[in-house]
Amino acid sequence: MDLTTRLGPLTLRSPLVAASGTVGSVVDFAAVGAFEHYGAAVAKSVSEAPWEGRPPPRLYPVGTGMLNGIGIQNLGVAGWLETVAPRLAEAGVPVWASVVGRTAAEFARVAAALTPSGVAALEVNLSCPNLESGLMFALEPGTAAEVVAGVRAATTLPVGAKLSPNAPDVAAVAAAVAAAGADFVVVGNTVWGAAIDPETRRPGISGVVGGYSGGPIKPIAVRAVLEVRRALPDLPLVGGGGVRSGADVVEFLLAGAQAVAVGTAHFADTRAGRRMVRDLHRYGRRHRVDRVTELVGAWRPW
Ligand SMILES: Cc1cc2nc3c(=O)[nH]c(=O)nc-3n(C[C@H](O)[C@H](O)[C@H](O)COP(=O)(O)O)c2cc1C
Repeated sequence: MDLTTRLGPLTLRSPLVAASGTVGSVVDFAAVGAFEHYGAAVAKSVSEAPWEGRPPPRLYPVGTGMLNGIGIQNLGVAGWLETVAPRLAEAGVPVWASVVGRTAAEFARVAAALTPSGVAALEVNLSCPNLESGLMFALEPGTAAEVVAGVRAATTLPVGAKLSPNAPDVAAVAAAVAAAGADFVVVGNTVWGAAIDPETRRPGISGVVGGYSGGPIKPIAVRAVLEVRRALPDLPLVGGGGVRSGADVVEFLLAGAQAVAVGTAHFADTRAGRRMVRDLHRYGRRHRVDRVTELVGAWRPW
């Protein structure tokens, strides 16, 4: 099966996209993972100044999913440009940077600084909990669009807006960021969650509420992709959330995604992408599908 897919201005050699924050700086993961099976890999989100992130515990396994409250620990854009950017070629895959900030103006400054770094695109992480409005940027069309418009004006690179399944109307947010200049959307990020250990009576993570990811969130993410695709049939879209197998990748393609993000699966298996691509080829043979693009949006109603 030909795995080549188009995402607005980008052509990807594979529909798999390694999700931000789950493959470290990208360059470190390249040594243990198998990025040759991916169309792109997204670096950990970067803010203007270094962020320490939250104190431990920051990761907590919950059934087959995972709760994280890292708090976007990162080097800050100057540190990133000094330590990660010069090594991007080692990743062996087009790298997208991920932009985060506390204000729309900070997002724009970080985007401008990252533009000449050699990345193939900028993903705008609208799911950061530290916001001007006290809410997640991605919850509300107006705030999400303001951030994307600022980033759009600050860069010549393709811009992707990473949306949240926590938004009450994710399709409205997608429409707003597309109108503000996003070339594609990423649907979506983690789902807010919390856990308490009955033995210690303490929350699983120090921040109490964090991002729930992994297998159990897949139906929530597929629903969000379907909603955005139905409202915006032509908007280039990366689907993701809970992808663990080649069948999960096919599911997101069928729902209408041109590419599929893989995140938490990397914590269980650094070679998850290789396995998924092998499964994709098997699926293609079994269902006589020659090109992965034939699957995009090809779900059948009852
Ligand atoms: C430990 C951890 C750290 C993450 N850090 C980021 C981040 O810095 N920026 C971002 O946009 N998403 C981040 N995410 C979200 C993932 O990129 C992904 O969207 C989410 O986990 C859902 O996909 P999954 O179920 O396949 O993991 C992180 C997720 C995890 C588990």
